[in-house]
Amino acid sequence: MRMNLDQAEITALTKRFETPFYLYDGDFIETHYRQLRSRTNPAIQFYLSLKANNNIHLAKLFRQWGLGVEVASAGELALARHAGFSAENIIFSGPGKKRSELEIAVKSGIYCIIAESVEELFYIEELAEKENKTARVAIRINPDKSFGSTAIKMGGVPRQFGTDESMLDAVIDVIRSLQFTKFIGIHVYTGTQNLNTDSIIESMKYTVDLGRSLYERYGIVCEFINLGGGFGVPYFSHEKALDIGRITQTISDYVQEARDSLFPQTTFIIESGRYLLAQAAVYVTEVLYRKSSKGETFVIVDGGMHHHAASTFRGRSMRSNYPMECIPVRENSGRRELEKVTITGPLCTPEDCVGKDVHVPALYPGDLVCVLNSGAYGLSFSPVHFLGHPTPIEILKRNGSYELIRRKGTADDIVATQLQTESNLLFVDK
Ligand SMILES: Cc1ncc(COP(=O)(O)O)c(C=O)c1O
Repeated sequence: MRMNLDQAEITALTKRFETPFYLYDGDFIETHYRQLRSRTNPAIQFYLSLKANNNIHLAKLFRQWGLGVEVASAGELALARHAGFSAENIIFSGPGKKRSELEIAVKSGIYCIIAESVEELFYIEELAEKENKTARVAIRINPDKSFGSTAIKMGGVPRQFGTDESMLDAVIDVIRSLQFTKFIGIHVYTGTQNLNTDSIIESMKYTVDLGRSLYERYGIVCEFINLGGGFGVPYFSHEKALDIGRITQTISDYVQEARDSLFPQTTFIIESGRYLLAQAAVYVTEVLYRKSSKGETFVIVDGGMHHHAASTFRGRSMRSNYPMECIPVRENSGRRELEKVTITGPLCTPEDCVGKDVHVPALYPGDLVCVLNSGAYGLSFSPVHFLGHPTPIEILKRNGSYELIRRKGTADDIVATQLQTESNLLFVDK
């Protein structure tokens, strides 16, 4: 399931807004989320992962619908606050939190810092003592077990994330020695873009069982169990959608059993970015040029890797083209025969390739190329400074009206962080 793309609507929007732009379907986002919510045990709370998309206006929608937010940097924490999330609805994960970031988290009293190492626990303790506060902390655990296939594995294998399950004894010893740090629970996240229904179920059940074993081994009852998520969406023709109904049913039942037996007060969490947003947006670009080179046809559009790195194969081991739809806009262009072309962006690198050897109706300057499934890991995952093109507009469609939710970037954005006068330059003596 993905948002409906209306060619006439997109064409009309290009008359009002400069390409490239992202168009989000707010009604789709709401229906999609509410379906997930209604299928899931109310004891399980959903948290939006800001890394998938850091647009404040989208985050606000999720806040209004009752979700919490998962952040992975002080920058995302600030964004979450701008979106109106209160501290008690924020959790903070990430393997490389700086002390300055932890300080902000401790000072602002967020619901939970997810510590990914023993060293981080010591930093948190020190900072909490300095502030004379109690910091609530959960431990991210890298399970001893690996859970089937997922596109990008982040647990069950050697990784920089969390602490190994086999080291739990030592971690619990440390936790018991802390005075300003309150241990509230555990977090397991085994990978993103997971399209393997069984492996998600298995990993979530395993996490609940880990919670149980904390009680059996150490007498600790978790107040917080973060089941992770990593729900994937199909991008390519060989991919099959998750059986989300089976996941929500099985995990809802499993959590209910756990609540009935051992965890009546426990907060269970599923965090998600991709599943909530990926299928809800389209990235719209305009054809600038068409040319041939040594027997191949190239179509050059005005957007690409700097705005939507994932669509140009970044972060993926398999080079498959994102689904796309082309809109012939140029008038009187007659019938468009299908042809094989490579669609590239404007950057000075062959890596800026939006579609390799795609079969599309012949494209000419002024036509539109729309990349589907673009709502997650689009702009937030892209090298926006490369070559200094402005960041794109974002538009949110809701209840039949359109809202500009990100203005076009300017050249000032790129120079803003650079010292511009001689007197501002900082010289450091040897
Ligand atoms: C710890 C953690 N939580 C949540 C997410 C969001 O995952 P997704 O967008 O697949 O839902 C990620 C993604 O990398 C993550 O590392």
